[in-house]
Amino acid sequence: MYLKITIGLIIFSFALPYLYDREQVIESFFRNAPDKLKKFSTFKEYEVKFADRLRNCEDALLDEAMGLAILSCDVGRDKWNTVMGNFHKEVPSGALYIYDYSNPDLSDDEALKRLTLADFPSGDTDFHPLGIEYYMPTSTLYVVNHARTGSTIEIFRLSVSSFTATHVRTLRHPLVHTPNSIAAISDMEIYFTNDHYFPVRKSPLLAKAETFLAVPGGSVVHIDLTTDSARSVAHIPFANGIAVLNETTLAVSSSSKPGIYIYAMTKQRDLVLQKVVRVPSLVDNISVDENGKLLIAGHPHVPSFLTVSGSRALCNSEKQKESESEVCKVRAPSWVGEWTEDAGLTELYQGLEYETSSTAIRDAKRGVGIVTGLYAKGIMVWKE
Ligand SMILES: *[C@@H]1O[C@H](CO)[C@@H](O)[C@H](O)[C@H]1NC(C)=O
Ligand SMILES: *[C@@H]1O[C@H](CO)[C@@H](O)[C@H](O)[C@H]1NC(C)=O
Repeated sequence: MYLKITIGLIIFSFALPYLYDREQVIESFFRNAPDKLKKFSTFKEYEVKFADRLRNCEDALLDEAMGLAILSCDVGRDKWNTVMGNFHKEVPSGALYIYDYSNPDLSDDEALKRLTLADFPSGDTDFHPLGIEYYMPTSTLYVVNHARTGSTIEIFRLSVSSFTATHVRTLRHPLVHTPNSIAAISDMEIYFTNDHYFPVRKSPLLAKAETFLAVPGGSVVHIDLTTDSARSVAHIPFANGIAVLNETTLAVSSSSKPGIYIYAMTKQRDLVLQKVVRVPSLVDNISVDENGKLLIAGHPHVPSFLTVSGSRALCNSEKQKESESEVCKVRAPSWVGEWTEDAGLTELYQGLEYETSSTAIRDAKRGVGIVTGLYAKGIMVWKE
């Protein structure tokens, strides 16, 4: 009897932090419902741009020296999402864009250009970009491609002046499994995240269970591109964004925990967990600005996010009648925050003007920031 109670207590005490986490997530289902959501913004101004030209941009990154942003957008995501589990047959391809945010003299038309993919074997027909990473010293652009034929990491050489990304090679590897985000740490070395152990493509139910129970099935993989030798260096529930904070520190976001894992990188490229920063939203992607501040984008209300994710194929389709249905009126709020060791977490924005925020980036010198939205039209651009 005592033994049973003791064992029960031991199990309970181990589960406690876990239950507390789950409780926080579930509590946000009520607190952050779109009609109750507390809206705030610390930005001087913000607007949604290119709503008629861009849709479903997941990732963005900056070349501050040139005043350019590179955007990864996939109109096909409504129907093809290997993370959320939407698999339709006819799917349009996604594209990469360059946005010149620093030159106010350009018209909107001139400021946003689609990148041409040169020498890319599957052409533009099977391109579903998610996370992207740019290693400036070698002009190397890494793109997670959730292709229908299997997920890969595509490596391109970027020429900004000719708006062309020339394909160098495709990285396929057993550890490129459910790739999500990439962080380059030298010219031939990257870390990337796999979001799940069970790919939604193969085991939809197990993948869902993995997400909702926050099982640490996601991973961080280090790969040396001279030899393609790769190994898993950390396991995290729903590992999502990854960003280098400084020479010795790496940040990885967990979308089911929800929070940010801060790791020290050893010389051997192992990761040693330093701390977990809790975030009041379900964290999507993270980025680091020039001042070393970590920018975080997330989804404050998971149920609306899941509804939007599941219904876009219908709501963006020609079938006018169906798109007037209730499900198409659901709005999924956005949230942006920042974190530093000294100041801790600061919330910057929460609202409904722009939906499904997935990445936030900032040019600290120019005081310009960009938010992308997984299922949103256009991008949100803010000024500080
Ligand atoms: C998230 O952002 C980082 C840094 O900006 C980038 O390297 C990564 O590929 C992004 N991932 C996704 C899935 O957007
Ligand atoms: C890197 O960032 C971490 C976390 O903010 C901090 O503790 C550490 O001191 C920083 N290291 C350097 C070399 O700036």
